[in-house]
Amino acid sequence: MGFRTKQVHAGVTPDPTTGAILTPIYQSTTFVQDSVDDYMGKGYSYSRAGNPTVRALEEKLTILEGGHDATAYASGMAATVAVFLGLLQAGDHVVIADVVYGGTYRFADQFLSKFGVDVSFADAADVAAIRSAMRPETRLVFTESPANPTLKVTDLAAVSEITKEADALHVTDNTFLTPYQQRPFELGANVVIHSTTKFLEGHNATLGGAVVVDRQELQEKIAFARIAAGLVMSPMVAFLTLQGIKTLSERMDRQSANALALAHWLQGHSKIDYVNYPGLVEHPQHDVSLRQSTGFGAMVCFEVEGGVEAGKKLMDAVELWSLAENLGSVESLITHPVTMTHAAVPRDERVAAGITDGLVRLSVGLEDVEDLIADLDAALDRI
Ligand SMILES: Cc1ncc(COP(=O)(O)O)c(C=O)c1O
Repeated sequence: MGFRTKQVHAGVTPDPTTGAILTPIYQSTTFVQDSVDDYMGKGYSYSRAGNPTVRALEEKLTILEGGHDATAYASGMAATVAVFLGLLQAGDHVVIADVVYGGTYRFADQFLSKFGVDVSFADAADVAAIRSAMRPETRLVFTESPANPTLKVTDLAAVSEITKEADALHVTDNTFLTPYQQRPFELGANVVIHSTTKFLEGHNATLGGAVVVDRQELQEKIAFARIAAGLVMSPMVAFLTLQGIKTLSERMDRQSANALALAHWLQGHSKIDYVNYPGLVEHPQHDVSLRQSTGFGAMVCFEVEGGVEAGKKLMDAVELWSLAENLGSVESLITHPVTMTHAAVPRDERVAAGITDGLVRLSVGLEDVEDLIADLDAALDRI
């Protein structure tokens, strides 16, 4: 079956009692048992342990990513935390890409050490840097490609080779490309994380997360962390995410085409210093992107001439674009990573990783690209 068929049908069967075509929102805390001897006979006990609406989403994501099984969470961060809680213990070491979502950096930097886990940050676009960061006690390598916000691309298959040789795990955040444009399990990854808040749900309506794994042992450890810490997704969020995913490919195709057109237009604008988009031949890892993904996503970043002041003026001057955190929705959003999504990263580390003070991040939506360009053009004229 093709991806479009799977995104509509996978994981969802008509409701056995009513025939409802959509999996109902099972808004119930608990599930009544037939007898003590037949405990969990229908598969559910308490919604922190599992819920039928959430399960339908987990089954859909497992099939779309081509993994073994999945768990869903209250947010993308809850998903990342469940992976760390489930897979790490005191004395372990982890290698984390130097450019990742700011919240992932913050958790790794400020919390993992409290539990006796040592963290190294390494340039994930440089395979040699990842290799030299490995230690005998390295339990996992965490990548995010393309990375938020600089759109640096990691050669995921090369990192998987390193983790395999080291008997470690490759955990990757696939939020930016989704399984429609990138399938990390085919590149040797062991755990795939999503903020479903972004492209998967796609409508700025929910906060959610998911973890897909390549084997049962990992599923059990991570699901145990979820139930123990109570990091669960609500049935309403699962329902909305199930509906959003049905149009994922159509949205990704159009939003990515808009992003490419915008990136080309920005390249030709006299007030723009540089533009980063993995689909541009000038992107430093364009070849890696071509090899490992089937699309380049809908995120673009750039620096305006005049640095941070000019960037801030631009973000205040746009009208159709919304100045907001979040990404991946049908509405186009403009973000200043340094004050918004990556404020938790210390300045020296930010700048070393290319997250400069004047960086502007675009999440390109579904609007007519001519309108998006006209609005940015008018705003650039005004600064
Ligand atoms: C790549 C990436 N991963 C994870 C997250 C965290 O997701 P959430 O906001 O759903 O907790 C984000 C949020 O921006 C993100 O961009």
